[in-house]
Amino acid sequence: MPALYAYAPGKVILTGEHAVVYDQPAIAAPVNEVRARAAIEANPDAETGKVRIIAPDISLDTSLGDMPADHPIATVFREVKQELGIDALPALTLTVSSTIPIAAGLGSGAAISVAVSRALSAFLGTPLSDESVSRIAFETDHYYHGTPSGIDNTVISYARLVFFTRGKPIEMLTNAQPFTLVIADSGEKSLTGKVVHGLRTRVEIDPQRYRPVLEKIGTISQAARDAILEGDMIRLGILLSDNHFQLQQLGVSSTNLDQLVRIAHEAGALGAKLSGAGSGGNMIALVKSTDAHQVASALLSAGAVNTIVTTVPRS
Ligand code: PMV
Repeated sequence: MPALYAYAPGKVILTGEHAVVYDQPAIAAPVNEVRARAAIEANPDAETGKVRIIAPDISLDTSLGDMPADHPIATVFREVKQELGIDALPALTLTVSSTIPIAAGLGSGAAISVAVSRALSAFLGTPLSDESVSRIAFETDHYYHGTPSGIDNTVISYARLVFFTRGKPIEMLTNAQPFTLVIADSGEKSLTGKVVHGLRTRVEIDPQRYRPVLEKIGTISQAARDAILEGDMIRLGILLSDNHFQLQQLGVSSTNLDQLVRIAHEAGALGAKLSGAGSGGNMIALVKSTDAHQVASALLSAGAVNTIVTTVPRS
């Protein structure tokens, strides 16, 4: 039997990171230029239930039974079996790989969970819905984040531009115009759980200072939603830059990220901001498609370790 493959894209947050944890809206887009892949093959020579997990990128070759119960891949297996009402698995080998940079705010963890959920459920004969796959990826995100808002698993499972507010129905955004983003990696690793926890402590100590900033970011996401629906890229750029300023006020930017945002503006971007948890990781610049190359080059010259140019198609 040939291997069965499933894929999931990376993602960027356009507006609203951190504020989304405090029930404000946020907007995220799939990034199809990078992706996670899960391949499942039957292993007829092994005993029933023997599951081998291989992840060459991180030199992992183990059996499911030897993984900690809270490991994201172990969680996906448990959740998929439960969702499909299956007790015993046939012997199989799962190979996971990804081109999504790790710990950079591009959703690598959620994408792996989505790809594995899809491959495993299809292998077992009942492909799961986007909604179920998203729920399972949300469960696994606790491992990385502690208290995830749910935006990563949502945008990656549905692979659509989403306007997301915790606890509310997801709105798939229809963008009147395709738009181009340059994503640049600052080269500093960012641990989402740590950054989210640090902000939570600051909010608890000084709510009068931080709560209004979180609310302002919510207002920016609302306005960015309207700009996207109207295809007003100039306005969207201004909103992204304003969002970066607010993230600086929250204390989640870094010297490198601020520098890359400044360089993007100087190179002609319509707007720029950090994207994801911050304190390292990636920044994004909204650009006219004809300016993408010059903005990416300027960011690389200023110390970015990698750039990805992605176009969010009209939907
Ligand atoms: O996974 P990251 O690094 O893109 O961060 C997610 C965005 C946060 O709002 C900071 C956390 C969350 O759970 O939404």
